[in-house]
Order: sequence, then C-alpha cells, then structure tokens
Amino acid sequence: MIAYLVMIPIGYLLGAIPFGLILGKLFRGVDVREYGSGKTGMTNVMRTAGVRPALLSLALDMGKAVLAVVLARAFFDSRGAEAAAAIAAVMGHNWPVFVGFRGGRGTAPGWGALIILSPLAGLVASIVGIVAIAVSRYVSLGSILGTLSGIITLIILAVLGMTIEGSSDAFWFASAEYIWFAVIGASLVIGLHKDNIQRLISGNERKLGQSALPAD
Ligand code: G3P
Repeated sequence: MIAYLVMIPIGYLLGAIPFGLILGKLFRGVDVREYGSGKTGMTNVMRTAGVRPALLSLALDMGKAVLAVVLARAFFDSRGAEAAAAIAAVMGHNWPVFVGFRGGRGTAPGWGALIILSPLAGLVASIVGIVAIAVSRYVSLGSILGTLSGIITLIILAVLGMTIEGSSDAFWFASAEYIWFAVIGASLVIGLHKDNIQRLISGNERKLGQSALPAD
C-alpha cells in the first residue's frame, strides 16, 4: 500500500512537468496550446515551434514516465506500483497541475512506460506506430494503432506469464499487474484522441509536417 501512496503522486508530478510547453516558449516564445491542436505533445510542438523542440519534448515526455517506473522498481518490489506510477505519469502529462490542467494526450509518456514495463510490447507498439505514421502521415493514427498493438501484446504476454510455469523472463512475459496499465493507460490515450478520430473520419486531420507556426 505504501508503494502506491508514494509512487502515484511521484508519477503524477513527474508526468505533469510540461516539457512541450516549456520548449515551445524557449525555442519559439509561444504557448503551444494557443495553436494547432492546442496540446502540449510532440506533434503540436512540431507544428508550432519546430522539429528540434518537438524531438526534445518527445524524449523528455517519454523519459519522465520511464523515470517514474524506474523509481517504483528501485524502491519497491511491487509490479502494481510500477503500473500505478506509469498510469499516474500519463495522467500528469494529460492534466498537469502546474499549468491549469491543460496538457497532452498521453502518447509519449505511455510509450515510454510501455517500453520499460515490457520491452517486447514497446517494440511492437513502436514498429506499428512508426510504420503507420510513415505511411499515412497522421501522427494521431500512428499513436492510436501503436497504443492498441502495444496493449494487446502486453496483455498477451501477461496472460502467458500467468499460464506458463516458471515464466520469469521480462522480455517474453509480462507481470499480470501490468494489465492495469495496459487497460487504463490505453483508455486514457485513445480516449483523448476522440477529436483526432473525428477529424480522421471527416478527412480534416492535420498531417505530419503541416505547420501551425505563428507568423513572425
Ligand atoms: O500524441 C498526440 C498525437 O497523436 C496527436 O497530436 O496535436 O495532432 O492532436 P495532435
């Protein structure tokens, strides 16, 4: 219980660090939430502030969730606390207390957490997501398909872990507790893509590289 009480707030506070917002201000002097999709994630940072801050925000947003899981792993022997820290980091990113609860859609921290919780599920999600973006040029579509493929893989690995005797290999199997992260984390990420899904259906979704840069 103590592991959850400690790791949920830590995960949330790490997730709530608004790297996209900070980098948009540093590199371009803009509030990325005023342009494009209004989100603070990599895609909107790219549209409003450019490629370099976008890639940096992606790395930092993934890293803050990785750190939350690593801290849970280092201080508590609890797979449940790792999953809770990861979910909390995604929630912090989406609804950051420091900047009026206006953040991103949870893709980058969810992706980072998935990679550290289950490298194989993270690899599947990465391949599916990157290929979908490369083919369609829609980051949102890649985020959704990557998330779905990642959680399905994670759940399969967790079920295998529960059914196969002596299955302790962290690459080929996953802990049952991680299913919480798969279900809740994916619901948060996909749920927050509702407007993207509507735009994808109506053909109005912004493509990768389409700028929303404010005029100089
Ligand atoms: O992870 C967010 C991405 O999938 C979509 O971002 O800004 O195009 O709504 P955005």
